[in-house]
Amino acid sequence: MHDLPSERPRLSPVDSQVPWWKRTTTYQIYPRSFADANGDGIGDLRGILGKLDYLQRLGVETLWLSPFFQSPQADFGYDISDHFAIAEEYGTMDDVRALIREVHARGMKIVLDMVLNHTSALHPWFAASRRDRGDPKRDWYIWRDGRKPGGKAPPNNWRSMLGGSGWHYDEATDQWYFASFLDFQPDLNYRNPEVKAAMLDVVRHWFAQGADGLRLDIFNALFKDASFADNPFSWRPMPTESNPHGFFQRHIHTIDHPDTIAFARELRKVVDEFADPPRFLVGEVFGDAAMLRRYCGEAADGLHLVFLFETLNARWQGRHVRALIQAFEHAFPEPFSPTFVLGNHDRPRSIHRLRGGRDEAKLLAALQLTVRGVPFIYYGEEIGMDNHDIPLHEGLDPVSARFRMAPRWLVRWFRRRGVLLNRDECRSPMQWDASKNAGFSPDDATPWLPLHRRSAAVNVATQEGDPESILCCYRNLLALRREQPALQWGQLAWIAAPRLPDNVVAFRRILPGNGAGAVEVFLNFSKRVAELDLSAYAGRVLFSNRTGQRSAVPPAYTLRGFEAVVVLDQP
Ligand code: GLC
Repeated sequence: MHDLPSERPRLSPVDSQVPWWKRTTTYQIYPRSFADANGDGIGDLRGILGKLDYLQRLGVETLWLSPFFQSPQADFGYDISDHFAIAEEYGTMDDVRALIREVHARGMKIVLDMVLNHTSALHPWFAASRRDRGDPKRDWYIWRDGRKPGGKAPPNNWRSMLGGSGWHYDEATDQWYFASFLDFQPDLNYRNPEVKAAMLDVVRHWFAQGADGLRLDIFNALFKDASFADNPFSWRPMPTESNPHGFFQRHIHTIDHPDTIAFARELRKVVDEFADPPRFLVGEVFGDAAMLRRYCGEAADGLHLVFLFETLNARWQGRHVRALIQAFEHAFPEPFSPTFVLGNHDRPRSIHRLRGGRDEAKLLAALQLTVRGVPFIYYGEEIGMDNHDIPLHEGLDPVSARFRMAPRWLVRWFRRRGVLLNRDECRSPMQWDASKNAGFSPDDATPWLPLHRRSAAVNVATQEGDPESILCCYRNLLALRREQPALQWGQLAWIAAPRLPDNVVAFRRILPGNGAGAVEVFLNFSKRVAELDLSAYAGRVLFSNRTGQRSAVPPAYTLRGFEAVVVLDQP
């Protein structure tokens, strides 16, 4: 085992000037799948409370919880019907308060998931809006007449994010409403000042309750163009991580609208009302790094962070990894910060793309936790939980219902390209131990989704005591990151050693004006051994995902296949 300190080191005065959200490590919990305390087969807030010691020991500092607000759960909480109430199956407002209190008591932070773009179709606002064209809530959503003759064609060609028209006909008032995602998630009309005010109240409410930050669901879709003009044609069949256009159109009137980017600054002002302690916003937006940066504002006065999803589908080869980091560095120089994501509740689990390789998973963890940027770890990633191949016809995910007829080869084809037609695959219950329900639910309960077939082998309990495990690797890396401020917020510079093989990614993290030394990272993205010449170094090997020992720096170091090594170079 590594002899890493378990105590949080004291921050120097310079370190403490760097905002906490820039230095933090974040862990995403999908509440439905994390821990079921009341035995109904569905994860809940009390379950999360019971696992806080585990999370603290793991060493993550900020928890992001997917939505637990009142909802018909047609999209498992991303369809909110009351932003101020808690879904019964997850618990009560007292449970939320207890959770916030307990998280804070451990020196940790909590981030809530805020769906600003749309509500559930069962939200009382939408019920009123669809009832009558004259209802005061009518204009809270986006309603239009259909195209003539007869109005039976959608108002324009705007597509939803899943392909297909985003418009849905509503017989009661003979008009169409727009939904960026699924039909039961009607988009709010942000051009109506009452809507904006109501949603900013929601934001203020949760900050007042003690939330430290908000993750903003499909933030890029908030404003639609007031002209309602057709989106122009494009040859792109599919959107990708770096380009949101697809389904044969450029979504210029529905995505990344300049008014949405301006709204990021308006929202920031609201967040800044809560200065003690400071809070933060992280946006779910899609596009290349330069486009995404615009959401953070030219003067760093917009969203604090945006997800950079290119890592979800990256090619893990030295050259590609360097290009990716370079692009992030270029677009997010200080005072901006990149983010680093390997998985989430919508996308194939990262180990799946590595074909289950444990060494490769540990290497990616080392990259994620040593490179410049705020890491977001998806629950279960720390034990190498894999995708659960659940047939489409058994899917509970509403997206899977849309693709019910897709053949298995197509499901696999999409999965390889980072797209899940059934997102249940990455949402299976957390694997705590080798018992029947993996410690997620009591053994006599029926978990809402089936457990992964390898849960008896891949779980927290079996990895706890195994120093070679992925779990111990995460713990050691997280402890190392807490120990070394250079890893939290230091600048990144490439190590240009002429004899480094192409597949070894090597960088240095250094604090400005700090004489304490740089932390150097060498990551071998191939199975071939590489010899490192460390003769000019005077310091210590702080971490290796293969040997697990701290030692003095040897003059030559044999970097084994998929090894990550972190060296402290002391002057
Ligand atoms: C986001 C969420 C996803 C949800 C969708 C609609 O992409 O991550 O889970 O289904 O928005 O709210």
